[in-house]
Formats: sequence, C-alpha cells, structure tokens
Amino acid sequence: KSEEEELVSEEWKQMILSLPKERGWRTSHLYEYQGFWCQIAKIQAIANFQKHFQSFYSDVVLASIPKSGTTWLKALAFAVTNRDRFSVTSDSHPLLTSNPHDLVPFFEYKLYANNQTPCFSNFFSFDQRRLFGTHIPYPSLADSIKTSNCRIVYICRNPFDCFVSTWHFLGPLTSLSLEEAFEMFCQGIIGYGPFWEHMLGYWKESLERPEKGLFLMYEELKEDPLFHLKRLAKFLKCPFSLEEERSGVVEKIKKLCSFQNLKELEVNKKGKSIMSFENEKLFRKGEVGDWVNCLSPQMVERLSKVIDEKLGGSSLKF
Ligand code: A3P
Repeated sequence: KSEEEELVSEEWKQMILSLPKERGWRTSHLYEYQGFWCQIAKIQAIANFQKHFQSFYSDVVLASIPKSGTTWLKALAFAVTNRDRFSVTSDSHPLLTSNPHDLVPFFEYKLYANNQTPCFSNFFSFDQRRLFGTHIPYPSLADSIKTSNCRIVYICRNPFDCFVSTWHFLGPLTSLSLEEAFEMFCQGIIGYGPFWEHMLGYWKESLERPEKGLFLMYEELKEDPLFHLKRLAKFLKCPFSLEEERSGVVEKIKKLCSFQNLKELEVNKKGKSIMSFENEKLFRKGEVGDWVNCLSPQMVERLSKVIDEKLGGSSLKF
C-alpha cells in the first residue's frame, strides 16, 4: 500500500471497497467512481474537492485526460495570464525555474491530496489569477466550477498517441504487457477513463457554452501554436494587443513553452512535481503520430473501431 492509500479514512475505504473494480495499471486496482475509473487514493481527494472547492469568476481550470499535453497547456496558460507580472523574456520567468505543475496545481494530486485542506496562498498571491489543473471528468467537477463564470480549457489528443504516451509513462511501473494495457485502454479502463467519455464531456460543454469552455487539440496546437495561443488569450479575456503581436510576444511565449525549451531546463530534468513521477518523464518526444512506432496493424484496427463506435456519432473528429 502506498503512503497515500494509508491516509484514506476507514469510512472511505469501506465505501470504496463496495465499488466495481478492475485490475489497475500501476496500482493493484482501479475503482469505478461516479462513472470513471480511479485509484483508491484519489477518490477521497476528489470527494473533498467536490464538497469544498469554491471558485472565483476569474479562475481558470485546465483539464485533460493524462498524457494529452497537460504540462504544455499549463505552461502556455501560465505564461499568457501572467505576462503583466512576468515579462516572457525575463531571465527570472517562473517557468525557467519551476515545473509547470508547481505553478498550476492539480486539485486531485496536490491541493486536496493526502486528505488535506488546501492553503491557496501557498500557490497564488492575492492579486494573481488562479490557474488549476485537473484530470477529473466534467460531470464530476465541483459544482461551483460548473455553475460560476470561471473558465475551463480542455486539451485533447488523438487516442493513439495518448495511449502510446501513457504506455511509455506507466509501462516501466506496471506488470501489464503492452497488449494487456492496450486492451484495457480500448475497454475504457484507464485512470479517469473511458477516454471517450472524458473527451465528450468537455467537448459538449464547449459546444453548449463556448464562452465557458475552450476545447483545444494537441495536434492543432502543434500545427499552428501562434493561432491557438491567440485564441487562448482571447478566451481567457486577456487578448494580445496589436503592440504585443508586433513586438513578438506571442512568438516568445511559444518558444518559452516549447517542448525543446522546457525539456532542457534543469528544473525539468530533476525532481518530482506530480506524486512520485520524475519530472523528466513528462517530456518524452512531444510529437504527433509516434503511435506508428508502437502499435501493430491489428491494434490500430481495434482502436479505430472503438473510436468509431464511441465517438463516431459526435462531431468530435481526429
Ligand atoms: P509523448 O509521450 O508523446 O512525448 P501530459 O503533460 O498530459 O502528461 O502529456 C505528456 C505528453 O506531452 C508527452 O508526449 C510529452 O512529451 C508531451 N509534452 C510535454 N511538454 C510538451 C510541450 N511543451 N510541447 C509539446 N508536447 C509536450
């Protein structure tokens, strides 16, 4: 049992043990909580977040299913929303000395982890816009996020690369074979999954309330970062001025947050910002289409069918 699991109260353990469960990837089991798959140690954190978190209208929630570009989105959104406080060309920009996950804390891994009550002032100064990260599916966000005017930005990645990235990240930590892990992914049994429900939850919200939810695609962000950075800034109500565009601020943010730049920073080569995961493992290849190096033609056919079946009826296309 992990230290974190030890901190789950007896009352919660009893409740959790009554939930449907499946073999986990990294932990012994994943439990089906509120319709998604989750580790035992996270359930109590999520419940506390749902019960206690109060959002401000200016808050920004950055959401994703793991391995979809969360770290990148956090870096971009931090640089965009804090550019009045920290010039993007400054030698002392926080992104040069802090991992993006330490600047934009996760609700479930940091703020409400280990059965603790969050101390927001440890993360945000009183005049700073609060940015949070989460992997929690849309329906299970705290009500105050769903009903207030705070904004949600979701980053989505094609499921082939999402699986391959997850496999490289968790593979060394699991006793599952590639084939077993792949089959579980296709059945939706992955932390915070099924992936299709996760994506559809945020997709529908972004269509129904475009002023509240922005849906970004990893692949599109790679293709045209400047265009999507401008979209992001506009959506977050801090659009780039003409003067900023002319002086190259958007381009500088793109460079500051680029895969190559972040990967080479000392702070991202050492330490652990998400639980016991090494920061350096957060920066692997950062490419689109790396799945061709990992999946057999049968696997591609299997996952294509799942995507077709689960997402084919929606307007969400990869
Ligand atoms: P790969 O494993 O395909 O390389 P997350 O941040 O949600 O954990 O997602 C991790 C994936 O995003 C990894 O993909 C990682 O390399 C990639 N990534 C991390 N930082 C990035 C950046 N600045 N730009 C593009 N991709 C990035």
